[in-house]
Amino acid sequence: MCGIFGIITSENTEIGKIALDGIKRLEYRGYDSCGIVSHKDGQLFIKKDSGKIQEIQEKLTLDDLMGNIALAHTRWATHGAPIKKNSHPHLDCKGEIAVIHNGIIENFISLKKELLSKGHIFQSDTDTEIIPHLIEEYIKKGIDFQNSVIKTLKRCKGYGIVICYSKEPNFIIVARKESPIIIGIDRGKVSYCASDIPALLPYTRNIYILGDNELAILRPGEVKIFDIENEVKKIERPLKHVDWNIDAAEKGEYEHFMLKEIFEEPDALRKTLKIPENDLRLFAKELISAEHVYITAAGTSYHASLAGKYIITKFLGNYIQEIECSELENQLKDSLRDNSVIIAVSQSGETIDLIEAIRWARNAKKNVKILSLTNVVGSSITRYSNHTIITQAGPEIGVAATKTYTTQVFSLALIGLEIARERNILQKKEIELYYNALKSTPDVIENFLKKTNHSIEKIVDNLERNANYFFLARGISIATAKEGGLKLKEVACRFIEGYSAANAKHGPIALVRDGFPIIFIAPPDETYKRLIGNVMEFKARGGHIISIVVESDEIISDLSDTIIKIPQPANKYYNLFSPITFIPALQLLAYHAALAHGLDPDKPLNLAKTVTVH
Ligand code: M6R
Repeated sequence: MCGIFGIITSENTEIGKIALDGIKRLEYRGYDSCGIVSHKDGQLFIKKDSGKIQEIQEKLTLDDLMGNIALAHTRWATHGAPIKKNSHPHLDCKGEIAVIHNGIIENFISLKKELLSKGHIFQSDTDTEIIPHLIEEYIKKGIDFQNSVIKTLKRCKGYGIVICYSKEPNFIIVARKESPIIIGIDRGKVSYCASDIPALLPYTRNIYILGDNELAILRPGEVKIFDIENEVKKIERPLKHVDWNIDAAEKGEYEHFMLKEIFEEPDALRKTLKIPENDLRLFAKELISAEHVYITAAGTSYHASLAGKYIITKFLGNYIQEIECSELENQLKDSLRDNSVIIAVSQSGETIDLIEAIRWARNAKKNVKILSLTNVVGSSITRYSNHTIITQAGPEIGVAATKTYTTQVFSLALIGLEIARERNILQKKEIELYYNALKSTPDVIENFLKKTNHSIEKIVDNLERNANYFFLARGISIATAKEGGLKLKEVACRFIEGYSAANAKHGPIALVRDGFPIIFIAPPDETYKRLIGNVMEFKARGGHIISIVVESDEIISDLSDTIIKIPQPANKYYNLFSPITFIPALQLLAYHAALAHGLDPDKPLNLAKTVTVH
């Protein structure tokens, strides 16, 4: 939450332009206010306000700031309303120290009291503002800037932060305790930092990932990393190369990232097919030898885990329990045993509830293993995991997860098939049939998207007459129903319930009236026959039935008012992977519903892509 971007060069330049571009690329992390501070010839210049970046740029021309340093911030409000005075950067009393911050300084109330008693005057309601004032306090005592920052940070918890001081024009300080910071170096002349990789892609692919409790001094083209608790100890960190394509982080010919990323799903899946076999084997072996297996995540990644649990359990012969990461400790505190494996799934690898959950599990039992699945190389989750698989979705900018969901389910399916191979439980021929079905999912989605995008717009027109509707399914497709419901809530602001079709008659059916829309997710798997009964029950009460079925479907199609057809064969091998091939229909539905409501699907209300607060 909140996007931060910093740059330092050796000469005065049009630094506002670069800083503005940096935060535009991070806008998915928060978009209720923004600001930039630049340093030029011993003075700080600041522009900030509430609103989306483009609105503020039009009002204040952020891009005409000059200088050799700039810190830029796009905010997702936590402490203090999204108004101008609370937008970042924040300054000390003299306006010499500027700070941009992501995270929550949990102990800020007591620090603020202390600073108020010493005469500091605060301009905002934020937790962040205590930082420049505390640094100022140490500088007043004659301590140099760098050591004042270290003393300050030792007293705070919960930050990714960038700091500059008008009297130290040759370096900026970047530090991290929990919230992510990436550092980039460009040809020995410029140094950058940001809270996420896409902001750095136009300038460099060579990055350092700052670890927890680390601080870096950034000079033009040069970086020194230290441990905050033991500041004399310089940390040697290898440069990482990021091979993400910059086009993947641009909208190109598409009107929105969400649509672009839905259309990128086939390619993302083809790339994910190349996950190294050794990694899959390692995961498979760990899972086979585990006594208890859990799978944990939040939001969309949790729905991917739910689908993955069905697939892996099928081949593992051992039950996998899915648990929302924020509940993992609550649910397992009295039962977690050694020789358990926890699969942690996260697009960003930075979701704080997930990181805390796996950190808790590792501390609770020495022999618990964490296997993680993430889209971001070097993200925090990888540091707390025994083994990691990187899904190959590439950068996802739309706040609503789309291609990262399908690549997560696809990766979990690859792990499942590897388990089947290792356990030798199927004939070679049968394993091949499953593999072929999985490998064909990108083609199925590609065909579907080509044929169906526009017809989904028409379905949306009909649905829009109703305020609420259900997505119902059985078995593995419950994951699809829940994920489809989440997409519509997020981007189209509709209350949609993704629910088990069987359970829906134990209460939710009470809502059904004439014309109430119900979308059934109906692949021809072992749940199909019973789903027919559920369709009839809702139809009998006047429900408007929309069904998502395979092309050859007849029975549920005949019972439906509207049909969305997925071009895949009707057999058990394909059906197992229907969470991958059926979800694009619901992603598109959510996208078009957002447009029909005049909403920006890339910037859902109140959301940020990476949730780094509890
Ligand atoms: O980065 P993660 O996968 O850990 O994020 C988890 C959720 O915050 C995320 O999936 C969220 O629900 C998405 N906005 C859904 O589209």
